[in-house]
Amino acid sequence: MITLRGVTKTFTTAGGTTTAVDDVDLHVERGAVQGIIGFSGAGKSTLVRTVNLLERPDSGSVVVDGEELTTLPERELRARRAKIGMIFQHFNLLENLTAAQNVELALRVAGAPKAGRAAKVARSLAVVDLSDKADAYPSKLSGGQKQRVAIARALANEPSVLLCDEPTSAVDPQTTITVLQYLKEVNERLGITIVLVTHQMNVVKALAGDVAVMESGRVVEHLRLDGSPLAPRSEIARFLLDDEIRLAPVDHGRTEPDAVVPPRAPVSLDRLEAVVERG
Ligand SMILES: Nc1ncnc2c1ncn2[C@@H]1O[C@H](COP(=O)(O)OP(=O)(O)O)[C@@H](O)[C@H]1O
Ligand SMILES: [Mg+2]
Repeated sequence: MITLRGVTKTFTTAGGTTTAVDDVDLHVERGAVQGIIGFSGAGKSTLVRTVNLLERPDSGSVVVDGEELTTLPERELRARRAKIGMIFQHFNLLENLTAAQNVELALRVAGAPKAGRAAKVARSLAVVDLSDKADAYPSKLSGGQKQRVAIARALANEPSVLLCDEPTSAVDPQTTITVLQYLKEVNERLGITIVLVTHQMNVVKALAGDVAVMESGRVVEHLRLDGSPLAPRSEIARFLLDDEIRLAPVDHGRTEPDAVVPPRAPVSLDRLEAVVERG
């Protein structure tokens, strides 16, 4: 169970102050899959990182499994954090460690006794069907396999919560399905609560029961994914739901040589993100 109340996080840089997360309330029941969707810069990553206090909120309360995290001393917080797994868009595996060593790293960091580690590593890799890749280095693994190792690493300390920040944004559509299938298993078979951050509506639709739509640091609406038709109220949610790409017709009779035809909005969100992220 996760409860965020009045969570606000601002960043101050030379360029000014940004309110990345602005007075957000969010409640996730134990065993649920909570989606968080929004454009690049909406505050999704910052919000999900407040759940394990990788980002400490300026104000507000973060309760996980009945425990207020913001007032815990650093030592206890570190122990508590081990029970909250996390995976990322770019997997964040260490290239000089094998799959098994990457998983074991999570146990080492959490101070797990050496004696039981090998069995835990084996069990975690088995969950994602990668027992046969235990000794492989990340460079020898596909994107999907790397993300599965990252899932195994996140599971090593037997967490109650798994935070997923754009877990399928760096893999192809086929691999996306595989990764989501394993997350579904983690949720349903192991009973782990999942928070799934993405900009891809079809990804949250496949897994989540409720989606919080974020814009400018705020949760502007919730969409319930219970099979009934979606009725988005906000413009941002309507836009996120509509993944069709519409281009303006090319005017072949145009004479001005340097005129640019602006594409008629909305353009695919993937395209927008590709531009924003890769310049
Ligand atoms: N460490 C940081 N320092 C300064 N600004 C940040 C930092 N992290 C995020 N931001 C800013 O906060 C806003 C939200 O960012 P982020 O949470 O990464 O959004 P999203 O994950 O939805 O793309 C953006 O304006 C971003 O530039
Ligand atoms: Mg992000």
